[in-house]
Amino acid sequence: MSDVMEHFRKTILITGGAGFIGCHVVKRFVRNYPDCLILNFDKLTYAGNLENLSEIENENNYRFLKGDIVNEADVSKVFADYQIDSVIHLAAESHVDRSISNPMAFIMTNIVGTVNLLNAAKLNWAGKMNDKRFYHISTDEVFGSLGETGFFTETTPYYPRSPYSAAKASSDHLVRAYYHTFDLPVVVTNCSNNYGPNQFPEKLIPLMIHNIKNKKPLPVYGKGDNVRDWLYVEDHAEAIDLVFHQGTTGETYNIGGNNEWKNIDIVRHICRIMDDKLNRIAGESEELITFVTDRPGHDLRYAIDASRIKKELGWSPKHDFEKGIEKTIDWYLTNTLWLENVTTGEYRKYYEQQYDNRQ
Ligand code: NAD
Ligand code: DAU
Repeated sequence: MSDVMEHFRKTILITGGAGFIGCHVVKRFVRNYPDCLILNFDKLTYAGNLENLSEIENENNYRFLKGDIVNEADVSKVFADYQIDSVIHLAAESHVDRSISNPMAFIMTNIVGTVNLLNAAKLNWAGKMNDKRFYHISTDEVFGSLGETGFFTETTPYYPRSPYSAAKASSDHLVRAYYHTFDLPVVVTNCSNNYGPNQFPEKLIPLMIHNIKNKKPLPVYGKGDNVRDWLYVEDHAEAIDLVFHQGTTGETYNIGGNNEWKNIDIVRHICRIMDDKLNRIAGESEELITFVTDRPGHDLRYAIDASRIKKELGWSPKHDFEKGIEKTIDWYLTNTLWLENVTTGEYRKYYEQQYDNRQ
């Protein structure tokens, strides 16, 4: 058992902390809670990038631990080496298109990996569950697809329609099962689409920014009519902080941006901002828009009713979309090396496979 913990009030294990949302959560917790030891446990898949954490990597209360949640021995070792008080579980395979081409990776990481963490927490916290917390980060995609109206609430029945969302739904059920069956002190949140700095450019917004910058085709699935509810990633990190500290054990909170956009409108919006920033002729980037074959089983619309977290914990998003998207575009235009580093190698191969047969 590491003796470093003597210096800290609590030890918080964050899984997937080198990924997009995880890095914002880790940075927030390292800075806001200097009396807590923050352990970042991450396998560093294609989506995990330690460059995301360079600002805090030398802080006294931060440690990076490379490990795979699917590997039971890796998970047991962290719990043996450190007296973990809480888990904030973000590690996952997160991209829907990849789940369509390789479902098994999603089953293993999102389901088996989650169960390995649940088992380790159950074993190590036996008889002392009172001051512990297992916080599972999930998605609004578990609820399925909305029509033109309506919102997902915490009681909307689950109806996942992609291997990604089915695997996340399965992990949510297992987390809640461990609460009811074993009294594991869990809390769950289901959030809408995040955007912001450090998102891997396979997801809609960073992909479009990257392609506009490089004058490459902008692949819009189907007619671009699908709707997503966009939330700035730091607002999600703030909500996670709040639920972690004040959420009621055993409960679920929906988190959303109250900010619905059709894909085609968001792509055009980014084109307009970037034409301006890159001193291009107005309308130049829109010419790059290419309608490609739709994603199989493509959910039409997601929209979150976030009134519970607002009413009970006083959270609402702070960033309005205009400012958030401009900040995001500026970040990608400034951090060219980050973008270059993540768009080489494996990602290029994926991009070719994913889009070659769609245009
Ligand atoms: P991401 O793909 O950017 O990052 C995932 C991280 O998990 C990476 O650092 C990766 O290395 C790590 N990881 C993957 N497999 C692992 C394994 N087997 N063991 C240990 N680490 C592993 O994902 P993200 O977009 O930051 O999403 C984080 C979490 O939030 C996920 O659980 C996702 O389902 C959920 N979520 C994401 C969004 C969104 O819009 N991105 C919205 C709601 C919920
Ligand atoms: O809703 C929360 C979810 O949001 C998270 O749980 C997932 O981890 C995250 O990846 C995201 O899923 P989406 O499938 O909604 O995000 P993505 O960025 O892949 O796509 C957003 C929309 O844009 C979706 O309707 C598909 C469309 N799209 C996406 C890509 C990558 C395109 O039209 N073209 C593209 O090239």
